[in-house]
Amino acid sequence: MTHDDIATQAATDFEAQFGRPADGVWSSPGRVNLIGEHTDYNEGFVLPFAIDRRTWAAVGLRDDNAARVTSTFSDEEVEVELSSVGPDNLDGWSAYPLGIAWALGQNGVDLAEQRGFDAHLDSTVPVGAGLSSSAAIEGAIALALDERWQLGFDRPTLARVGQLAENEAVGAPTGIMDQSASLLGRRDSAVFLDCRSLRSEIVDLGFADAGLAIVIIDTKVSHSHATGGYAARRASCEAGAAALGVESLRDVGVADLDRAREVMDDETFRRVRHVVTENARVLATVRALRESGPLAIGEILDASHVSMRDDFEISVPQLDLAVVEAREAGAIGARMTGGGFGGAAIALTPIELVDEVTARVSDAFERAGFTAPEIFTVTPSDGAKREF
Ligand code: GLA
Repeated sequence: MTHDDIATQAATDFEAQFGRPADGVWSSPGRVNLIGEHTDYNEGFVLPFAIDRRTWAAVGLRDDNAARVTSTFSDEEVEVELSSVGPDNLDGWSAYPLGIAWALGQNGVDLAEQRGFDAHLDSTVPVGAGLSSSAAIEGAIALALDERWQLGFDRPTLARVGQLAENEAVGAPTGIMDQSASLLGRRDSAVFLDCRSLRSEIVDLGFADAGLAIVIIDTKVSHSHATGGYAARRASCEAGAAALGVESLRDVGVADLDRAREVMDDETFRRVRHVVTENARVLATVRALRESGPLAIGEILDASHVSMRDDFEISVPQLDLAVVEAREAGAIGARMTGGGFGGAAIALTPIELVDEVTARVSDAFERAGFTAPEIFTVTPSDGAKREF
């Protein structure tokens, strides 16, 4: 189905479920992070792009205060009163869309006074692959409610609303990157975001013109940022910043690393070194893209993976294998993307070698006895929008 067909289908399904036409259909994409991992909550730099996998939300306001959500990815229909929606009574997939309503309430919207809404969601963003299926849901609902409730929030504010929903309603202590990419993405471009000032710039990627494709290798190792490793890494970063007497690791440069080594344990130091060098790699990538184009960024992607594997320790054997095999099959650079502990790797690959990369990685997974990966290409795409 084309994207237009999916949008139309979402409207048809809405009408079948709720017995009236939707007010409109809004959509928002998943994202790939090109580089800048675990830097967002350290007030650093990130360079994600929106992808051609999206979530569509058909939304219609109601005359009462109820909010009902349904989706193609769950049999569950969830209904709440807007006036009482909150982190304590939300769980499962509906915490993403309904968490947005709650988070808008936290940003000054009087939920008891608003008309309720029905929403039906469909998505082509794979869940658990590290491509931010959650930010795609949040972006589509945030844009729909902003428009139908006539709130007039700008997109950076809607990104913060999405992050609040994710942090409090879903319970994952994540940063601002995913929602920013989903809401601010632009075709053929990446979003260069300073997570301290929240200022962003659009940076041309030019992959297709340079004969390159982005291959996604979904390892099928599922991860959750609501539990375990993600929060532990965040805590290490905070401990490192405290040991250095700075507000966040954004205030630490590569030249400060020798001193850092003296004032913290080795593990915390390696966590800090990843974040500090990763910030530098984001800046180097932006510079290389602007001055020389995407053929010049391969080595920086490789170095990012090594840093995540050895210093930040968020890779898994499947991601490491995917990266090594993709490079040997001719990718010019490869790294795991997203929060880690599973999910996907990306390989920047000459278009004529995509099949080779796919075959070689698949074979290596089979030989290693790993679950077969899902391998596909994505293109940098536009962010959230109203479809009709
Ligand atoms: C997840 C989080 C982001 C970011 C990345 C790691 O995707 O949602 O906020 O921290 O991990 O870069």
